[in-house]
Amino acid sequence: CGIVGYTGKQSVAKQILDALELLEYRGYDSAGMAIVDETNGQVQIRKRAGRVADLEKVWKANPVNGICGIGHTRWATHGGVSDVNAHPHRAGRVTLVHNGIIENYEELKDHFGLADELISDTDSEVVAAVLNRFYTGDPHEALFQTVKCLKGTFALVVIFDDIPDVIFAIRNVSPIVAAYREDGTMLASDVAALGGQATSYMVVPEYHVVELHTDDIRVYNMKNELCEAEFLDIDWDTTRAGKGNYPFYMEKEIMEQPEAIKATLAPRYVDGRISLEADGVPDDVLKNCERVCVVACGTAMHAGLVAQSLIRSILRMHMDVEYASEFMYMDPVIDDKTLVLAISQSGETIDTLEALKYARSQGAKSIAVINVKGSSIARESDYVMYTYAGPEIAVASTKAYTTQMAALFALIGRMAVVRGAFNEEQEKAFVDALMQAPDAIQQVLDRKEEMHHIARGLLEAKDAFMLGRGLDYAILLEGALKLKEVSYIHTEAYASGELKHGTIALITEKTPVVALVTQERVRDKELSNIREVQSRGASVVVLVKDGIDLADADYTHVFTLPAMDDVAMAFPASAALQLLAYYVSMDRGLDVDKPRNLAKVVTVE
Ligand code: G6P
Repeated sequence: CGIVGYTGKQSVAKQILDALELLEYRGYDSAGMAIVDETNGQVQIRKRAGRVADLEKVWKANPVNGICGIGHTRWATHGGVSDVNAHPHRAGRVTLVHNGIIENYEELKDHFGLADELISDTDSEVVAAVLNRFYTGDPHEALFQTVKCLKGTFALVVIFDDIPDVIFAIRNVSPIVAAYREDGTMLASDVAALGGQATSYMVVPEYHVVELHTDDIRVYNMKNELCEAEFLDIDWDTTRAGKGNYPFYMEKEIMEQPEAIKATLAPRYVDGRISLEADGVPDDVLKNCERVCVVACGTAMHAGLVAQSLIRSILRMHMDVEYASEFMYMDPVIDDKTLVLAISQSGETIDTLEALKYARSQGAKSIAVINVKGSSIARESDYVMYTYAGPEIAVASTKAYTTQMAALFALIGRMAVVRGAFNEEQEKAFVDALMQAPDAIQQVLDRKEEMHHIARGLLEAKDAFMLGRGLDYAILLEGALKLKEVSYIHTEAYASGELKHGTIALITEKTPVVALVTQERVRDKELSNIREVQSRGASVVVLVKDGIDLADADYTHVFTLPAMDDVAMAFPASAALQLLAYYVSMDRGLDVDKPRNLAKVVTVE
């Protein structure tokens, strides 16, 4: 969920609506705001299930303006998507928005006997009711008492009826940043929502109360002592560019990949060699680790899988890739000889953040691979390698993924040098292959209409399979996720050789198969597996590296990928798979940039 608070001279509703729009990638199930009415000082709520644009309509039909206000855009956790479950929630003199999950909300409901007064199904309304119980006129005391009762993660932003010109906030894990603007003060769940209105920001420390006044931001610890706040400069662009001539951000972002990869590689390519000097990653960190472990979610995790394939083959090193959400519960073998890579576009995914914190607590060194500068994971990690993808707006990640791969390739290349796995010649060959990635992707993008044509064959499918071996399988896991999330076709990426051990039972003439063949050494076996599904009636689209002989079989379509060194084939192959997913979604008439049920940044565990 995204949260925002503003108090200042501008129209509060407009400031909140603008910020919510910038925060919509955190959820777009429902949106709402509470504004202190300038005419009578009363808190007024406008909220509804739907997008921020729907909230704006509600507000226009029944406007209210005032001195300060708070807003929320929701990604439903507890309680379905409905007007009543939308935030803000109100109880007595308390109006509140919440990001996070309160795990003990049922117990709190019973303990405080709240059942009769609650009107929504949310954990957040329970917090409002508990806070109201504790509130006797001292807001700090009430907030401290309340958070002592809460188990879970939370960013709470509150207005008390009788203090209508101050916004209060407190948090645990879920981030809140606060900033001075020329016309007032603001807080939000992340820096992106500040929308270029501030030049510096502070991260509200956990379990501290922050007070937002029109011209002042005050922070208090749990002993109620006023604390010094540390402000960080915003020296990067938080504004988002428009869609340009593209119908959807997803297409624009797919098309931006050659430039984004160039930008990501440039600072790491010095005098023909790979260097991580600009990142400040010391060689001995790369040299002294005994194993590598990736913690990440979704697409970022898939970038980790591609890296795993390389680390094993080039460095002959042990490497695990874990779902960040599972990490702590799988008893990971982590110690001070482990190098943890936390990969995240947003740098705000709580699962990844918590996994990183856990790994560090076990002594691991960490490098974060992050797109959003100054984000929570970037701040938490020992070292950061930024990807220079620029703002990624479409929920389905594309350029963030390929730039993560580019940064990881650079990291692995440098590791190979410092660990003696590469001599100069091998380093050069690796760098040459990597430097061709933008061009190889461009060649695929130039043939987008060819892929559009292929995509038409998938429009009616309910289920689809993607088959590959080795690195191809890792690439397809992301290809399948892309197709699933934007087209709603149930798609499974399967290791080609494993299919026959059960899942082949699902193959019929109605399950299209996409096969990826880019790795010379598995070609023969892969072709056999393709024949196995063809024999069961499946139509097969093959994406093949130029030069690999597919033999004389009857494929539905063949899309030829520009030939590169096998290790770098992930770049053109991924671009082709992204285009496939994009066109299926678009031709099915779906909301490509905002698929149902998703959020771009997930800040609950
Ligand atoms: C969400 C998004 C995914 C993304 C994942 C990790 O689930 O919908 O597209 O891959 O989070 O996000 P991150 O910002 O950590 O890369």
